[in-house]
Amino acid sequence: MSDAKQEVLGILCSGRGTNLQSIITAVNRGEIAADIAVVISDKPDAAALTRAEKAGLPAVCIDRRRFADRDAFEAALIGELQKRGVTLVILAGFMRLLGKTFLHVYGGRTMNIHPALLPAFPGAHAHRDTIAYGVKVSGCTVHFVDEGMDTGPIILQAAVPVLDDDTEETLAARILVEEHKIYPQAIKLYCEGLLCIVGRKVRIG
Ligand code: GRF
Repeated sequence: MSDAKQEVLGILCSGRGTNLQSIITAVNRGEIAADIAVVISDKPDAAALTRAEKAGLPAVCIDRRRFADRDAFEAALIGELQKRGVTLVILAGFMRLLGKTFLHVYGGRTMNIHPALLPAFPGAHAHRDTIAYGVKVSGCTVHFVDEGMDTGPIILQAAVPVLDDDTEETLAARILVEEHKIYPQAIKLYCEGLLCIVGRKVRIG
């Protein structure tokens, strides 16, 4: 038996949770050597919570509206994650910026996925901005989280074509296929100890 440290994942969501699902599937198939300790949503009606329950995972809502400010909200997130021994935090469609309070504890141990080739088109309207700008290639980016909006060190990216007749929906669907591949891959690399942050860059291997 290996005595390698097993990572414990805490997955934060706000919505439908298809990336969450791809990670659950990869863990259940044994492709990622990690446990998922908890799925947390900041929204009570997130479909991600139902997905987690169906998978037999602890599903917790920490409703942002119950907290006076971001620091109090982040302290509650930290409390829940630490209580469950979480060592790596995965943002999977979590629609909030995390700040100093959270990153003081989980900085360098929090990942996000964004549906564009960063640093192009950060923010909440990546597909719309991509189509409006007229680029021919887009994709998705997994990155470590820092205090900026989609600005942290990049782990993996995948590209897809942008077609002349794309709508936000058709482009999002094409990108999502790649998201569901590279997010589990990036988590696997982390869990195998193969990611090293060096300044702005992430070395793999
Ligand atoms: C994905 O497009 C992801 O890149 C972005 O939010 C969306 C979440 O989708 N951060 P889902 O909830 O994982 O289906």
